[in-house]
Amino acid sequence: MQEIQTSKNRYAEVPKHADYTIDQQWETYSAEEHDRWDRLMARQKAILPGRACDEYIKAVDTLELSEGGIPDFEKLSAKLKKLTGWEVVAVADLVPGEYFFEHLANRRFPAGAFIRPESEMDYLEEPDIFHDVFGHVPLLSDPRFADFMQAYGAQGVEARRRGALPNLGKYYWFTAEFGLINTPEGRRIYGAGILSSMGETQFALENPSPNHLKFDIRRVMRQDYFIDDYQPTYFVINDFDELLDFAHKDFGPIYDDVAGKPFYDIGEVLDTDHVYQRGTLDYFKRKGKL
Ligand code: CO
Repeated sequence: MQEIQTSKNRYAEVPKHADYTIDQQWETYSAEEHDRWDRLMARQKAILPGRACDEYIKAVDTLELSEGGIPDFEKLSAKLKKLTGWEVVAVADLVPGEYFFEHLANRRFPAGAFIRPESEMDYLEEPDIFHDVFGHVPLLSDPRFADFMQAYGAQGVEARRRGALPNLGKYYWFTAEFGLINTPEGRRIYGAGILSSMGETQFALENPSPNHLKFDIRRVMRQDYFIDDYQPTYFVINDFDELLDFAHKDFGPIYDDVAGKPFYDIGEVLDTDHVYQRGTLDYFKRKGKL
């Protein structure tokens, strides 16, 4: 009997193209892997109403992410292309910065093609297909978010030239990955890192531990974070236009202000912060992390 490959090693022998992409080889996913996707998606969809922003909830339906089993990137890209010109390309692991920016700037979203193993349903450090496709892809069908992500990619070149790549990385982290947004109905999630995590979806909005601070670009670009736990600080925008505004701005003067400056401590709140929720940080203190 053939051994079932349950993690990223399924692509170990698959050659990488020059742009770091691979063939998804959709027909090679096992029934167990398709079933795992279905279970991840079902449990996440159940808790997202009232927590994820409307644009995201709507997008999951528009794209029919839920037709059953792991999405086929070719079919998904065909739908996405019609809506906003984006497509999803498969990668085996993390894409080096210059390739990542280049893909985004050309409306290609590189998505990990392997699915997390059964033992890591709740937590994993490397982005798998559930994080990338369920978390990131839906909002790429929203015209404003689609423009923002492309503009972000285009910013990469200039940021490198100015020695500000670490700062641009923080910006991505606190928006595309862990962003919150104020809406008339209350605070909602739009960041993929939260939307693809059952635990953090509830933690981010309902736990008193994390700070909720008003988004400010220079502030965000100097904020350090945990990569292996929930976030002690989330930054909140008031409108997707806010991201677009930043994305089309000349970041030059901003990079000059932030590049090379020390990062703020994890969980730190500054006197100048506009605070929506001052976190108790108890969750992190209990674990001895702060
Ligand atoms: Co991500």
